[in-house]
Amino acid sequence: MQLSESNMGITILGIESSCDDTSAAIIRDKQLLSNYIANQQVHERYGGVVPELASRAHQQNIIPVVDAAIHEAGIELNEIDAIAFTRGPGLLGSLLVGTSFAKGFALAQNIPLIEVNHLQGHVLSLFIQEKGVQEGKPNFPFLCLLISGGHTQLIVVRDYFDMEIVGTTIDDAAGEAFDKCAKVMGLPYPGGPIIDRMAQEGNPLSIKFSKPRIEGFNYSFSGLKTSFLYHLRDEKKKDPHYIEEHQADLCASLQHTIVEILAEKLIQAAAHYGIREIALAGGVAANSGIRKKLLDLAEERSWKVHLPPHKYTTDNAAMIAIAGYYKYLHGEFVGQEVAPYARSKF
Ligand code: KG4
Ligand code: ZN
Repeated sequence: MQLSESNMGITILGIESSCDDTSAAIIRDKQLLSNYIANQQVHERYGGVVPELASRAHQQNIIPVVDAAIHEAGIELNEIDAIAFTRGPGLLGSLLVGTSFAKGFALAQNIPLIEVNHLQGHVLSLFIQEKGVQEGKPNFPFLCLLISGGHTQLIVVRDYFDMEIVGTTIDDAAGEAFDKCAKVMGLPYPGGPIIDRMAQEGNPLSIKFSKPRIEGFNYSFSGLKTSFLYHLRDEKKKDPHYIEEHQADLCASLQHTIVEILAEKLIQAAAHYGIREIALAGGVAANSGIRKKLLDLAEERSWKVHLPPHKYTTDNAAMIAIAGYYKYLHGEFVGQEVAPYARSKF
């Protein structure tokens, strides 16, 4: 079955539960009607996501979150044409909650079930349309730098579902680098946004941290993390208050190094593939340093850049619903036997 994009009024309910956010969203055609997200505060005291607590919180949140999304969209249950859910990658226990809910909902409403890869969802978030907002969407092919707490990937996007990962991290993700370094400074989880805020007051060139030398378009952040740790250890020996006294400079220099690492491979890949249309996606795309760097590169290299609104960069169901919409157009449905997967590229 191949439905055409001119069919109007296709309404998709999207469900996202791959990590620690329970989210539901309604999209009609490409336009977002609602996007409801319940964050799980329970992990803060542990300095990271605790998988078992995450699944339990999803189980508590899923029904109220879906209810809220439907209510906010102002639609009736029977107006939903299909349900799309995140099948993976992510935490298996968390994915199971969204997957089981979606299966039950599809069965009860007698509507098609659509599986979405979380990473493709992040990329396709660039196509979400908001009421009254007329923003240019990316043209194919474009290069997407997907940076989040779990992923750091360079993706050549040739069509909605024709994506090639041309670079990936061989150890930590960019968000993990932010969060782990924040943790050693004694900052709460997630540390990325805090480092970003503190970096505004500091000198990005005051401290030099090591940068990786990796072949191709792959990334590595574990060396930077070690270099950061050793720097703190050495300086604290000389001055026990070093961290508190130099927090802004530490944050600014760390952020500067992460941004430089991200930009270097992006520039190389853009040149290699001859692509000038560049997009950011994923939680770390909210970072002011990488956003500014992309705007500077756009000037310098005549790139056209797409910086998504912050609310679609972190995990959300709107991106799952938009991906579901494009799959609906192609009649790409799955059966009740579908099971989530913890790991996969696409
Ligand atoms: O996409 P996301 O919500 O979840 C994953 O799929 O991982 O990304 C969360 C990550 C966390 O590591 C968080 O610290 C980071 O995004 N993050 C930031 C900023 N906002 C969120 N990192 C740096 N600067 C920010 N402004
Ligand atoms: Zn994500």
